Amino acid sequence: MITRNDQCWCGSGKKWKKCHYPEDGVHDLSREYKKKYGIHLKTPQQIEKIREACTVTSRILHKICKKAVKGVTTDELNTYAMQLHTEASVIPAPLGYGHPPYPKAICTSLNDVICHGIPDNRPLQDGDIMNIDVSCILDGYFGDTSAMISVGDISEEKQRVVDVSYEALMESIRICKPGARMHEIGDVIEAVAKKAGCSVVNQFVGHGVGIEFHEAPEVPHHKNRLQIPMAPGMIFTIEPMINAGRRSAMIDDDDWTARTVDGKPSAQWEHTVLITESGHEILTLPPEE
Ligand code: MF3
Ligand code: CO
Ligand code: CO
Repeated sequence: MITRNDQCWCGSGKKWKKCHYPEDGVHDLSREYKKKYGIHLKTPQQIEKIREACTVTSRILHKICKKAVKGVTTDELNTYAMQLHTEASVIPAPLGYGHPPYPKAICTSLNDVICHGIPDNRPLQDGDIMNIDVSCILDGYFGDTSAMISVGDISEEKQRVVDVSYEALMESIRICKPGARMHEIGDVIEAVAKKAGCSVVNQFVGHGVGIEFHEAPEVPHHKNRLQIPMAPGMIFTIEPMINAGRRSAMIDDDDWTARTVDGKPSAQWEHTVLITESGHEILTLPPEE
């Protein structure tokens, strides 16, 4: 427990009572984060709604992953996703999002595709790895999570990026708590990737989420200098994209599909994470069987 005379969690060096002590009245953390960083600290009521959105999102992802087997096309997975969203009375956030409007309900990123792969008529084949990314809107609140699936026997290189991106995600979540600096996420992910001889994509980042699909702050997965201290009520995604080869991405003519420049495999996992008073909570944990 931190007491009034301890150093403030924000790293200012000041006493807590002179800095971010909540009952002081002089310091409204919410107002400060909005003003300084454009970050929306969520209220308990908002957190409840976002938690609900995240639970539905991870359930849908889990169901789609189970259907992602040899011979199934990514379009069929998208149709199934549409059905699951409708049944749960939620809206798929990607559909119509951005410029040009994203055409499908989910992203399906195969093999050398880093992210934002668009479902099409290609059937899954032995040796494929694929990221499935689901984001839902429930009563106006957003959840965002993604996972990898593999089909049959996959190469050692593919297995490596799948495992490394998962480890990078989970290890970086472990350090999340009030006062930790945003750059520590990238420090951890780079260390995990480097140890395995993989690279970290720097052209796409995690993001604040909940009230909007993509809100402040940006959450870089690569080495960076973002000093923003995490604070209770922050909700953001971490979604490291890990490449077996070079880190660079190029975009297809569809203006969405991002793939590796060297054709080597890439993998990604994503969770929505809440910063709590004492640490963090993963809002998109997979449902228990
Ligand atoms: N779900 C993705 C993310 O993690 C965003 C997809 S945007 C889309 O941020 F338009 F490509 F779907
Ligand atoms: Co995201
Ligand atoms: Co996502």
